[in-house]
Amino acid sequence: MRTYLVTGGAGFIGSNYIHYMFRKYGDTIRIINVDCLTYAGNLENLKAVEDRDNYVFVKADIRDREAIEKIFGEYDIDRVVHFAAESHVDRSIRNPEVFVETNVLGTLVMLNAAKKAWENPDGSFKENKKFLHVSTDEVYGSLEEGDTYFYETTPLDPHSPYSASKASSDMLVKAYIDTYHFPANITNCSNNYGPYQFPEKLIPLIINNALQGKKLPVYGDGKNVRDWLYVDDHAKAIDMVQEQGRLGERYNIGGHNEKQNIEIIHIILDTLQEMLPKGDPRRELVSEKLITYVEDRKGHDRRYAIAPDKIKEEIGWYPETMFREGIRLTIQWFFEHEEWMKNVTSGDYQKYYAEMYQA
Ligand code: NAD
Ligand code: DAU
Repeated sequence: MRTYLVTGGAGFIGSNYIHYMFRKYGDTIRIINVDCLTYAGNLENLKAVEDRDNYVFVKADIRDREAIEKIFGEYDIDRVVHFAAESHVDRSIRNPEVFVETNVLGTLVMLNAAKKAWENPDGSFKENKKFLHVSTDEVYGSLEEGDTYFYETTPLDPHSPYSASKASSDMLVKAYIDTYHFPANITNCSNNYGPYQFPEKLIPLIINNALQGKKLPVYGDGKNVRDWLYVDDHAKAIDMVQEQGRLGERYNIGGHNEKQNIEIIHIILDTLQEMLPKGDPRRELVSEKLITYVEDRKGHDRRYAIAPDKIKEEIGWYPETMFREGIRLTIQWFFEHEEWMKNVTSGDYQKYYAEMYQA
């Protein structure tokens, strides 16, 4: 039975990945989920799998070398899928330190622990071991309208403290590949959306605010472009890179689905109007009048656009969920999980929201 060590599995993409893997492989794999449960980590995301015999949750911090080495000592880990990170750009602008500590130093701890567990005395590595570092398109910097796409060969040019910390962690993984022939892949994915996404990010924030008749904050002119991918398509890509990716390679993952932020907001408002049943009082609240232009994000990257040609040609991955369908699935999920939203937006979220949006 192959054993996966997933870091950050209680977060948005990590929990979707764990669900995807159990749907696909059932009882033929084992997953050890290591997460220290920051504000973004939520064990409610994993309720449906927590009783499985082939699932283990370990509450540990990836910066804690002893705790991580202990896990490698207890389990014969075949694959590491490394999601754990501080992931929100706005928070990185306000408080960069923890981004360096978790994203850079935490990744170093993970690399060293895997290397120690997998390295043979002659410096080669045990067969069939692999470390997959989950990274982002933001490491490539920013494009203008009319520019080409981000390719795997595009030089790293991060701008925010978040993207600088992710670029640094990519560099560390690359250094381990180049120096030790460490068995790893790096994936750089575009913006994800879907179930379990924390409502500090654009799509769940807009859905949640619109349903309550609260202002919809648009940074700057609303014309910044992101390339949106449904989270299940990302989970599938990660699995395919694990299975078929050539060791040492970097793979871009993206949906060829570029949209301006203001377009996203209009699509969400239209879809909410279509999906809310007649007579539902929230229909009266959901309105374009809620759109509010606010001060721009500092250093706001203008456009991200991934060229996913390499993963398509070498591995055969392509995105399966069209944006309109993905948005409907996401909204449906939020309709069915009102309690989840209530829980994650109580307490600390209120304080964050008030400070961030002066609301
Ligand atoms: P998230 O913020 O929703 O989840 C992060 C998870 O990591 C949480 O469960 C948190 O508790 C855990 N974590 C944070 N610090 C930790 C630490 N020190 N030790 C152990 N666990 C810790 O993030 P996400 O959106 O799911 O992103 C996951 C990964 O994917 C990140 O590496 C991110 O850079 C990358 N990524 C995200 C996107 C996106 O659109 N969200 C796109 C491309 C890549
Ligand atoms: O591109 C991949 C990245 O996508 C990931 O690496 C990050 O972890 C993830 O957070 C995401 O980063 P973005 O900064 O692109 O996502 P966010 O949802 O924060 O913002 C998307 C766009 O919407 C961005 O141009 C800023 C804008 N925005 C965001 C918020 C929260 C607004 O206009 N208003 C808002 O309130």
